[in-house]
Amino acid sequence: MNVLIITGGSNGIGKAIAEKYTLEKHTVFSISRSKTTNVSYQQITADLSNTSEAVNTIKTVFSELDLNAISSITLLNNAGSLGEVNTVGNLDFEKIQQTIQLNTITPLVLSNEFIKLTKELHCKKQIINISSGAATSPYSGWSIYCTSKAALDMTTRVIAIEQNEVDNDVKCVAIYPGVVDTNMQAAIRKTSEKEFKNVQHFKELKENNELYSPEFVATKVYQIDIQNQLENGDIVDIRTV
Ligand SMILES: NC(=O)c1ccc[n+]([C@@H]2O[C@H](COP(=O)([O-])OP(=O)(O)OC[C@H]3O[C@@H](n4cnc5c(N)ncnc54)[C@H](OP(=O)(O)O)[C@@H]3O)[C@@H](O)[C@H]2O)c1
Repeated sequence: MNVLIITGGSNGIGKAIAEKYTLEKHTVFSISRSKTTNVSYQQITADLSNTSEAVNTIKTVFSELDLNAISSITLLNNAGSLGEVNTVGNLDFEKIQQTIQLNTITPLVLSNEFIKLTKELHCKKQIINISSGAATSPYSGWSIYCTSKAALDMTTRVIAIEQNEVDNDVKCVAIYPGVVDTNMQAAIRKTSEKEFKNVQHFKELKENNELYSPEFVATKVYQIDIQNQLENGDIVDIRTV
């Protein structure tokens, strides 16, 4: 049995990845606040901006698994949000906390549990983090998002060097999906130029049909995974692999 545990499989990129892996005969568990209809993978509802809920949920998933039957297992940290868009000095501190919690702390917390819970498991084990080009390019108005993704990349790199030191390691990589036609992009296009100077660029990408579809990204992620294209600690942009 090949297992995928994905966060945010109810919508956008996560939904497309969950569907692709299900099609490819993986056993998929998705964790998100809402459930989507007409899909055959398991959906568990949880608010991943709440640490206890995140930990309890991954433990519940593992309690349902027969570890002896697993030939590969992946934690795919995909759930994320853009958070409040505005310049620093004009942000709500609770919103800062909530987005960093979801985009950064939860992937680290889930990775910590995943590594613990799979310690005795001898098979292909990996963590894939969905990061963003915003991790390395500062955008005015996106301090929360850019910070959260830069930290996620560092989480990826640290886990990788730690796991390189142990036997039976977990591979940890991060993937930037490009600009993808999801609700997150719709939210970006709705921001005002006062809050986000680059908004026109993102509107033009949509108008010119330059956005990737979630399905394209899902197929790419699946290929990268199945063809073992990445080394531990790699952080890659889908546009260049
Ligand atoms: N779209 C892009 O252009 C783009 C570019 C670079 C990186 N990314 C990254 O790709 C990932 C997916 O983004 P997307 O564009 O597919 O966004 P999306 O369409 O808004 O989907 C976000 C997913 O995350 C889940 N989620 C959000 N808040 C949650 C919470 N508090 N608890 C549990 N689940 C939560 C949502 O489910 P519920 O609402 O049901 O909870 C949904 O399934 C994100 O990490 C994003 O940063 C996207």
